[in-house]
Amino acid sequence: MPEFKIASIPADGIGPEVIAAGIKALEAVVARNPENQFSFTHFNWGSDYYKQHGKMMPEDGLETLKGFDAIYFGAVGAPDVPDHITLWGLRLPICQGFDQYANVRPTKILPGISSPLRGVGVGDLDWVIVRENSEGEYSGHGGRAHKGMPEEVGTEVAIFTRAGVSRIMRYAFQIAASRPRKQLTVVTKSNAQRHGMVMWDEIAEEVAAEFPDVTWDKMLVDAMTVRMTLQPESLDTIVATNLHADILSDLAGALAGSIGVAPTANIDPEGRFPSMFEPIHGSAFDITGKGIANPVATFWTGAQMLEHLGLPDEAARLMDAVEEVCREGIMTPDVGGDANTEQVTDAVCEAIRAKNS
Ligand code: IPM
Ligand code: MG
Repeated sequence: MPEFKIASIPADGIGPEVIAAGIKALEAVVARNPENQFSFTHFNWGSDYYKQHGKMMPEDGLETLKGFDAIYFGAVGAPDVPDHITLWGLRLPICQGFDQYANVRPTKILPGISSPLRGVGVGDLDWVIVRENSEGEYSGHGGRAHKGMPEEVGTEVAIFTRAGVSRIMRYAFQIAASRPRKQLTVVTKSNAQRHGMVMWDEIAEEVAAEFPDVTWDKMLVDAMTVRMTLQPESLDTIVATNLHADILSDLAGALAGSIGVAPTANIDPEGRFPSMFEPIHGSAFDITGKGIANPVATFWTGAQMLEHLGLPDEAARLMDAVEEVCREGIMTPDVGGDANTEQVTDAVCEAIRAKNS
């Protein structure tokens, strides 16, 4: 009997609200098959933990997480703790410590949600953004010298390695190959950045040779924003560096109607470590505790988790239920509805149970 051990780290702001909702939906979906046992273990790490202990998680946090099959993560960030502390204290150490080098961000327009783009609706925008998640502009290399002096200098070094670029290209080509259109767009900035980005392009070319079935093209990141906006239907799978994909995925979320529904998966494709699944939206302190956080992104990333754990039918059932509930207009205020988190969650769980029977 497969037993899946999930570590849940709700962390800050609306994180606990959406993770609680997500767990309800996951429990509803896996209840169908008693063969699959799921257990959730909760960790109270995050900004409150930091205020008590001076760190975002215990020293042996990663060691503890190693024993789990996946991590279900809420959000980090608090108004009274600097962002670089919350981020570098919890989320990035997990991503980098577990070599979750592939960050996968599916984006599509859900039924009932309207895109700000004129004439663009369900089916016209259906992308998977693959973000390099272990190096590039987020390598953490750099420093400050002459602190506080007029000649102060700060460097932020982007690191691109042949190993790092090859593996993310291969992963992106594989995803493209698995989708009906078999199409990949490689985002670059090799016109201005002559070293790392030129190597990025060369490696794309080399890896492309392994995937003759995939049609691929290359776009400069600035021109890519125009194409995403004016020709969304021309894109399918997209691969970009850590920072480029960070920016483009916010644009993607907005074009699909709301960043509030956008999910993300931090994957170790080799399965050496647990992968981590989270909504993109962040901690949203302005609505924390009001009970109106949109749980859809957390459901969607829950579906990514099921898929990753080898349960594609369960993943599809969860997403079908989410789409059905959106179609019915049972949505939170951020996407124009008047339902609260609990009502959306109950509706999704009910739709799952209806499919189960
Ligand atoms: C994201 C977020 C983070 C990032 C922030 C919180 C630093 O924007 O996951 O896209 O840039 O990686
Ligand atoms: Mg971002």
